[in-house]
Amino acid sequence: MRKIISTLIIAATFQSGLHAQSDATPSEEQLYRPNFHFSPKKGWMNDPNGLYYKDGVYHLFFQYYPDGNKWGPMHWGHATSKDLVRWEEQPIALYPDDLGYIFSGSAVVDKNNTSGFGDSKNNPVVAIYTYHNPNREKDGKIDVESQGIAYSLDNSKTWTKYSSNPVLKNPGIRDFRDPKVIWDTKRKQWVMALAAQDRAHFYTSKNLKDWTFQSEFGKELGGHGGVWECPDLFPLKVEGSKEEKWVLIVNINPGGPNKGSAGQYFVGDFDGKTFKIDEHFTKQLQREKAVWLDWGKDNYASVSFDNVPQDKRIIIGWMSNWEYAQEVPTELWRSSTTVAREVSLKKTKDGYILKNVPVTQLKKYQGKPITKKISLKSENQLISKSEINLSKAVIDLDLKKMNAGKYTFSLKNTLGEEVLFGIDNKTKELFIDRSKSGKTDFGKNYATPITKAPLNEIYVNAKMKLVIDKTSIEIFFNDGEKVLTEIFFPNENFSQLTLNTNTNGTSLEFNAYQINTK
Ligand code: FRU
Repeated sequence: MRKIISTLIIAATFQSGLHAQSDATPSEEQLYRPNFHFSPKKGWMNDPNGLYYKDGVYHLFFQYYPDGNKWGPMHWGHATSKDLVRWEEQPIALYPDDLGYIFSGSAVVDKNNTSGFGDSKNNPVVAIYTYHNPNREKDGKIDVESQGIAYSLDNSKTWTKYSSNPVLKNPGIRDFRDPKVIWDTKRKQWVMALAAQDRAHFYTSKNLKDWTFQSEFGKELGGHGGVWECPDLFPLKVEGSKEEKWVLIVNINPGGPNKGSAGQYFVGDFDGKTFKIDEHFTKQLQREKAVWLDWGKDNYASVSFDNVPQDKRIIIGWMSNWEYAQEVPTELWRSSTTVAREVSLKKTKDGYILKNVPVTQLKKYQGKPITKKISLKSENQLISKSEINLSKAVIDLDLKKMNAGKYTFSLKNTLGEEVLFGIDNKTKELFIDRSKSGKTDFGKNYATPITKAPLNEIYVNAKMKLVIDKTSIEIFFNDGEKVLTEIFFPNENFSQLTLNTNTNGTSLEFNAYQINTK
């Protein structure tokens, strides 16, 4: 969001104590506040930061401006959860200081007390974040961004900033931010992935305080339609094999596959210093140009948790897009996170797929299913208002004997507003069309172009999991092999699901579950 930042700093100065807070109408609050995705009680939120698990609790920090509903001087807000589904907002964790605003970053559980901030009985949690200095920016200097650390000895109730910050000074690169740190078990070192304008930098450290530059990656590879932001490097087992690969997620803005912000990934190997993409992945990249984590317009800055039990790799993204995030029609707060997702790596003849599906904990909140089996006609009523509340639901769809036509689902309300989505098995695409979904005229590239994700084949059988929460839909196609996440703002909650098709002979079976988190 480099372009946006400077304009916003000026805007934010005039905005403190924003009047919009008190003008918020209760109806807007009720209509748009998600039921089970995290959104801050008030104020502006963007990227998830500092995700970690410790002592039975998941911690989510986030880019936060408490005094307005647009981007402003960044803090780290904080929320906690026992199961990655129900989040409880906590007091602000990190405030801006003389070195600057607190931009995105990560947190690690320092189990061996390598930093010396704790002791063997009390492992410190160390946050590594970017300082963005608005004064340097105003003066037109290049060294606006540097990296700082802070630690907590009481499970994130209180934080102490390190007295010798910054720990990583700016080397003369304008965009130099979003440190994501992991413990490299093989080499017994900390590894930091950092976004440096149009590439990733890797640094290593023994104590989280002294960092050594090791290598850079990606200047000539993958998507470059915008600045690189929020990288995440981690090892992952290949499904059904003993092989381990390293995955590098890189978020870019703009330049996403359907305009604006999006996340791409690379698969390769990391030797403790250098990340190199795998041969098999190289061919995939040549074909696809960039490989996307999510094809929808609303999943940005996805990064993973530190220290999750059983080595699971869980990610959460910001469910919005810099193209219009500051104009979406909510007043009291802005933005929510995606549902927490577990990622896994599948190797196919065409390359690697970083699959992502909702965490299994979500099942705990699913009620008894409504199950239906239908031989599809041209128009099919799937779910009506009396059957399930579609503003908090999970639906598992199973299509069989499909042919080369179009399957258009419609999530609609009584005002005739609808979100269309589905599978075009002729053009070989998944799609979401929110051009008639209610309020649509507030932002660039919001209603159009229509979101599309290419498919490699004409499917005979296909599955889709839908996670629907009032103002969002997350579509997980074939066990998360392709994902589309989008938000919408109807003038009345959606209450019906239908399916239209120009095909013959297809059968559909589905289970629809109410989500009850209250
Ligand atoms: C991504 C981003 C990060 C930055 C933060 C500022 O959305 O631009 O690169 O650290 O947001 O809020």
